[in-house]
Amino acid sequence: MNYSSQVEAEQALVGVLSGKSGDNPFPIFEQLRQIGSVVQLPFPMGETNNRAWVVTHMEEALKVLKDQDHFCVDPKSIDRNSTIKESLTGSSDSAGSNMFLTNSLNAIDQPDHRRLRALVSKAFTPRYMEGLRPRVQELADELLDQVQDRGEMDLVKDYANLLPINVISDMIGVPKSDHSLIHKWSEGIANGLGVGTVDPKTAENLKDFGNYIKQLTEDKRKQPSDDLISQLISIEEQGDRLDEAELISLVQLLIFAGHETTSTLISTGTLLLLDHPEQLEILKADLSLVPSAVEELLRFHGPSTTAGPRYALKDLELSGQEIKKGDMVFPLLKSANRDERQFENAEELDITRGIKRHLAFGQGVHMCLGAPLARVEGNIAFTTLLKRMPNLQLNVPREDVHWKFKLAAQSLASLPVKF
Ligand code: HEM
Repeated sequence: MNYSSQVEAEQALVGVLSGKSGDNPFPIFEQLRQIGSVVQLPFPMGETNNRAWVVTHMEEALKVLKDQDHFCVDPKSIDRNSTIKESLTGSSDSAGSNMFLTNSLNAIDQPDHRRLRALVSKAFTPRYMEGLRPRVQELADELLDQVQDRGEMDLVKDYANLLPINVISDMIGVPKSDHSLIHKWSEGIANGLGVGTVDPKTAENLKDFGNYIKQLTEDKRKQPSDDLISQLISIEEQGDRLDEAELISLVQLLIFAGHETTSTLISTGTLLLLDHPEQLEILKADLSLVPSAVEELLRFHGPSTTAGPRYALKDLELSGQEIKKGDMVFPLLKSANRDERQFENAEELDITRGIKRHLAFGQGVHMCLGAPLARVEGNIAFTTLLKRMPNLQLNVPREDVHWKFKLAAQSLASLPVKF
């Protein structure tokens, strides 16, 4: 793929972000990196006159993610009456979408973010997530037990999609009989949200999801147990607590943010290994390389194309571009992770690379809260799969495996394998 002009490359990029592009966005990213570290998108932001930019290189993406003096995640931090978000997503105060989209941890700025993150971090510690290891192992084994004798499975539907949702549902105390409901809502919401797209069914899913979590938290208040919701209810930080709306929004976010992304890591990671048989052989020969392989898979083709949009709090210059107050900036994580200034042979998958840093979990104050859990799940998912099914191979011609696009991310619709 070669784009003869900047305009063509930018339009292709709009296709990637809105989910209408082809299977492989990396040639577009490579071309964009050649055009510049900060590239203007060829469309205005919703009904406003502010401009939108993408950040293509790691150094500049880090600046945007870390610099809270110049960038925020909530346009209301620039102007309390801002309608930027509503005009972009089409969402207003209706049908429960408001709380989910605008008040959750990932969408609020300081000082509220610091307060909420400190509270949730008291319960959701790296040590707690590491302690979930035996349960994650049990859930991974349970799933593979169900298909082992069949000699084949759809790795997406039978394994990758189920492990993270079972882990999170278990962790927050959703009864097993309701795991499929949570799965349905979470998937419906992920399918319905995207940059510039809103599915009419999304509001309905958000409402049902919200009502369910509300009921669940009420039940946990009356009858606490050893799950995460009960812990979140009981935590206090310097006399401060999570209120009802914060608690519901946080639980929804944990489910939503932790499900699709981790499923995608497992399914696309497996496909990438099958696509690189020499790497798969190295890994099978030494499963202690799995943690390093997980980091490389996250770098090479991590689940999130971009971090959430940032908004300029004031006029500034970034890599020679004049960004105006209110402009929207997308740090393109998948492009920064292929930055040839940072990685040798950036376009090659090398599971022995021993990466020091990648941006698949973002950076700065909003860096992924669940990264330690995602790593535990990824490590167990790949180790268990390769240990139990060492002859894993595709069960359909490679050209029949299709990527699908959701919420500016890429995943697989299905991955038939035999073993
Ligand atoms: C491979 C799996 C995962 C990937 C690639 C991933 C990626 C990300 C990224 C890129 C961000 C930052 C977004 C931004 O700055 O705009 C983020 C934030 C977040 N993630 Fe993850 N995530 C994963 C798994 C999880 C899991 C398992 C959980 C929880 C169960 C989780 C919970 C969160 C939360 C709560 C935030 C918001 C943090 C904040 O704003 O302070 N994620 N994630």
